Amino acid sequence: MDHHRKILFFNEEAYKELKNYFFNNKNQVDIKNTFILVDYCTYKHCLPILLSHISSLEESHVIKISSGEKEKNIYTCIQIWKNLEIFKANRKSLIINLGGGVITDIGGFVASIFKRGVRFINIPTTLLGMVDASIGCKTGINLESIKNEIGTFYCPELLIIDTNFLKTLPEKEMISGMAEMFKHGLIADKNFWMDMKKNPMKNKYKNQWNHLIYQSILIKNKIVKKDPKEKGLRKILNFGHTIGHALESYFMNSKKEKLLHGIAISMGMICESWISYKINGLSIDDFKEIKSILSSVVLEKVSNLEIDKLFFIMEHDKKNEKNKIQFSLLKKIGICSYNCQVPYSLIKESFLQIQKSKL
Ligand SMILES: NC(=O)c1ccc[n+]([C@@H]2O[C@H](COP(=O)([O-])OP(=O)(O)OC[C@H]3O[C@@H](n4cnc5c(N)ncnc54)[C@H](O)[C@@H]3O)[C@@H](O)[C@H]2O)c1
Ligand SMILES: [Zn+2]
Repeated sequence: MDHHRKILFFNEEAYKELKNYFFNNKNQVDIKNTFILVDYCTYKHCLPILLSHISSLEESHVIKISSGEKEKNIYTCIQIWKNLEIFKANRKSLIINLGGGVITDIGGFVASIFKRGVRFINIPTTLLGMVDASIGCKTGINLESIKNEIGTFYCPELLIIDTNFLKTLPEKEMISGMAEMFKHGLIADKNFWMDMKKNPMKNKYKNQWNHLIYQSILIKNKIVKKDPKEKGLRKILNFGHTIGHALESYFMNSKKEKLLHGIAISMGMICESWISYKINGLSIDDFKEIKSILSSVVLEKVSNLEIDKLFFIMEHDKKNEKNKIQFSLLKKIGICSYNCQVPYSLIKESFLQIQKSKL
């Protein structure tokens, strides 16, 4: 399947393209046969914005689900498919995913197998959605507690980015997107890392911030274009995620407070940069710089990590191959290797970098 035909940006222009898509006869879009998938928050905050730009969408059908990761399961899919049936959706239907990564993941998945595949458009409304989840044609749902275990590769017709949606996004949700943006710089573009370093979150409504979002999208897009099915290069996007995901699941399963994805992977990136310094040629100065910048995202520190439990989680990570825990490690800021194996002792040692007394 083709990659995104177009990446659209900067608000007004994006809506112009969206209109062109709808009203170009060639695409055979019937607004009455169009379905907008939202969650409670995006129904409230984002749907009115979309409708204010394209009023004819008032005639489409809105399918609303609850908000949050817990909705990303097969039962919610069934609910959406049933709604599509009720409104007589067919193979010419169009689904518009208006929401964060949960909506674009589940909506893309639902579209990919409904009647063997109908068209969809992504309109991400969270920062993480814009710079990460909506790019790269991975769709999916969780199988109980196993994240993204069921899914497809399936590409949207269009990707519409309107950074105005971010105005209502809670601050903590911004952090998750920011962490992925830092990651994009670290793994593939040193200049972008330098620009990110200079731009704290308080600039988020300024044009500069829009530019950073755009750059970040281009970086991810370039990587996934070269390796759409994650046979090799695309794995660099997992930098920080081997340890980050383990921390996320660990905190989810324990009585401790949940760890935000962005915070978990920032911690993961600190640990994995340490490992990169130890065995992959990353310089100590680069490591120190990464740690100091990412610590400002993490803010909090962890204590009393049960290392055995973390290892258990990492050993069951679906990214593993041949029973080995796989890492993507930095060589330099802007250059990343993948399929790296790391001795257990070093993984353990890296956790010291995020423990209370050390941060
Ligand atoms: N497919 C991929 O390649 C890929 C990549 C990274 C992440 N993901 C997935 O993305 C998901 C996380 O995405 P997320 O962080 O966007 O979570 P999310 O979709 O749950 O959104 C976070 C919260 O913000 C609310 N919200 C969304 N837009 C808003 C707005 N404009 N104003 C106010 N509130 C708003 C949502 O209702 C939700 O409560 C995870 O399930 C993850 O697995 C997928
Ligand atoms: Zn991530």
